[in-house]
Amino acid sequence: MDELVALCKRRGFIFQSNEIYGGLQGLYDYGPLGIELKNNLKQSWWASMVYDRDDVEGFDASILTHPDVLKFSGHEDTFTDPLVDCKSCGLRFRADQIPDQCKGEELTEPRDFNLMFKTNVGPVDDGSTFAYLRPETAQQIFINFKNVLDSTSKNLPFGIAQIGKAFRNEITPRNFIFRVREFEQMELEFFVTPGTDEEWHKKWVDNRLQWWIEQGIDSNNITLLNVTGDDLSHYSKSTVDLMYQFPHGIEELEGIANRTDFDLGSHSKNQDDLNIDATTIKNSSSNAKLAVQDLNTNQLTVPYVIEPSAGVDRGVLAILNEAFNIEKLEDGKERLVLSFKPHLAPIKAAVIPLKKNNDELVSTAISLKTKLQKMRLGRVVVENTGNIGKNYRKHDEIGTPLCITIDFDTLEKGSVTIRNRDTMAQETIDIENVPSYFRDFFQT
Ligand code: GAP
Repeated sequence: MDELVALCKRRGFIFQSNEIYGGLQGLYDYGPLGIELKNNLKQSWWASMVYDRDDVEGFDASILTHPDVLKFSGHEDTFTDPLVDCKSCGLRFRADQIPDQCKGEELTEPRDFNLMFKTNVGPVDDGSTFAYLRPETAQQIFINFKNVLDSTSKNLPFGIAQIGKAFRNEITPRNFIFRVREFEQMELEFFVTPGTDEEWHKKWVDNRLQWWIEQGIDSNNITLLNVTGDDLSHYSKSTVDLMYQFPHGIEELEGIANRTDFDLGSHSKNQDDLNIDATTIKNSSSNAKLAVQDLNTNQLTVPYVIEPSAGVDRGVLAILNEAFNIEKLEDGKERLVLSFKPHLAPIKAAVIPLKKNNDELVSTAISLKTKLQKMRLGRVVVENTGNIGKNYRKHDEIGTPLCITIDFDTLEKGSVTIRNRDTMAQETIDIENVPSYFRDFFQT
């Protein structure tokens, strides 16, 4: 983990947030390469969830959330972690995460600590008009169920996908970007006919496992955990967690829950007319019936929900961990390489003029970069430092799949050298063929 954190800072992937004022615990900022990696991961999720399917629509809701949403969702009552105080050092911890130095000390009895952040809304700050910063993106999807259904005329089964920030006042944020207070989630709420939920749950577990493997996660590093007992969330009939071998241990990367009809039932008006299976809080505040109506029989059904919910930041950490390799080379030296899958690489190609002060070499490099950049396959950069060896090392370290060298043969014969990050093999091709080479490389 330490090597990964150091690389992330040195190369501009991830920084401690608010660092120049001492930092704020549990918050991180994404630098120039981190944001590219994160965006690529989110785009890959969005493409597989929304564009590749015809039964899912996209969505993006506000972060500030009406207190009633989180009252009827059960978060006000149950979204808590057990908090203890160490009477010796005066610090507070999650009861299941007490550091070794405090274990023998006198600790208070655990008490419930709600993880939701509140903020004041509007100009009067007397506590009467507050909103929560959403602790999961899911709730806004549930409360917009009718809006999306009415505007898209979907039939069951169908899903609503969202990527966005979530906030949790974690008692002990830790392990770099693994457990933080502000993070992003990629969540799908997939609405199904009751009775088909278990079959869909299995399908989504398989789908999500396969997707992570396609992002470069070694299948040997993921195990499936059937969540049981007290670990099962209040809304869930069954949950399967994808547990990943993070640098600090095996922990949850994504959870796939069968949320039954709990959420739509909880946020509905006229609950007594709806035959809801889950135990919900009585709701007299909602103005919508969150159900689908059979046009022939007029019968109302509250769909069950299957929810694959993944953390973007945990995804980024897992992808970095998988990609991080220190290779022994034939000459006895080592090279550090981030072997990202090409679609996730922050920079797709570096175009390197052999000499930095040669106008012809530099302008040829810039015009090739511009051509490749316009193909919209990802970021392409010109490296104008005139040191090919150093540039190869840098681009290995940041995971750039291709380095393209512009040399005097380019000016005389129109050829360029393309170096492959993983094999380090170099091939010479005609500069005219670089766009099609580039497209084939990144579209497969
Ligand atoms: N809507 C369901 C839900 O929020 P969760 O298991 O609490 O379920 C889903 O969160 C995912 O969000 C987790 O699998 C994890 O990847 C990510 N996540 C949760 N808390 C996090 C935190 N404090 N820091 C970073 N990621 C977190």
